[in-house]
Amino acid sequence: MKTSYEDTRKYQMICVVAMANNRVIGDGDGLVWHLPGDLPRVKSITMGCPLIMGRRTWSSIGRALPGRASIVLTRDSNWKENGAIVAHNFSDAITQSKRWLVQQQTKENRLILFGGGEIYSLGINFCQEIELTKVDVSPGKGVKFPNINWNDWDEIKIKDFAPGSDYPGFSYRRYKYKKNTRYV
Ligand SMILES: NC(=O)c1ccc[n+]([C@@H]2O[C@H](COP(=O)([O-])OP(=O)(O)OC[C@H]3O[C@@H](n4cnc5c(N)ncnc54)[C@H](OP(=O)(O)O)[C@@H]3O)[C@@H](O)[C@H]2O)c1
Repeated sequence: MKTSYEDTRKYQMICVVAMANNRVIGDGDGLVWHLPGDLPRVKSITMGCPLIMGRRTWSSIGRALPGRASIVLTRDSNWKENGAIVAHNFSDAITQSKRWLVQQQTKENRLILFGGGEIYSLGINFCQEIELTKVDVSPGKGVKFPNINWNDWDEIKIKDFAPGSDYPGFSYRRYKYKKNTRYV
C-alpha cells in the first residue's frame, strides 16, 4: 500500500564524492588521503539518507554508518552483512532507498550516490547535484570517477583549504545539473 510520503515526495539523487585532479577516488581498498573536516562534512550532508554504494565500498568502510541506510549493490545472491540492505541492480537500489525513506517517516527526499567508481558510473546520470571535495593531488593509479561533461553542471565553489603538513590542498564545490531537473 502506498503512503502519503510516497505519494507526495519527488526523490532526487545527490552524488557525494572526493576526487583528485585526475578523477582518482581511491586505491581500490580505501581512500588515498585524510582531509581534516571532510568526514564530518560528508556526515552532515548525508545524515538521514540512504547511501547507495558498491560492495567494495561497503567492505572498505566495514560497517553501516549510523543514521543512514547502507544500500549495497552486489551481484552475489548469497551476500549479506549486518546493517546492509542488499540490492542486485541499480533500479532495485533506488526502490530499496525509497522504501527505507518511507519507513523513516521524515520528509527527506534525497538518495545519496556514495560510490565507488562502478556505482558512480551506474548512477551519475540520475543525479541532480554533486557535492564534491576536490583534492589537489594526482595519484599515479587508482579507481576513477567517470569522465562526465562538467559543462552540463553549474559550479558553486564553497570553500578552499590550503595544504597542511600532512594533507594536500582541497576545496568543497557543489554542482547542479543545468539541463533539466532530474528526479528518480
Ligand atoms: N573518494 C570517494 O569519495 C570515494 C567514495 C566511495 C568509494 N571510494 C573508493 O572507491 C573504491 C571502490 O570502488 P570500486 O569501483 O572498486 O568498487 P564499488 O563501486 O564500491 O563496488 C563494486 C561492486 O559493486 C557491485 N556492482 C557493481 N555493479 C553492479 C550492478 N550493476 N549490479 C549489482 N552489483 C553491482 C559488484 O559487487 P560484487 O563483486 O559483490 O558482485 C562490484 O564488485 C575504494 O578505493 C573506495 O575507497 C571513494
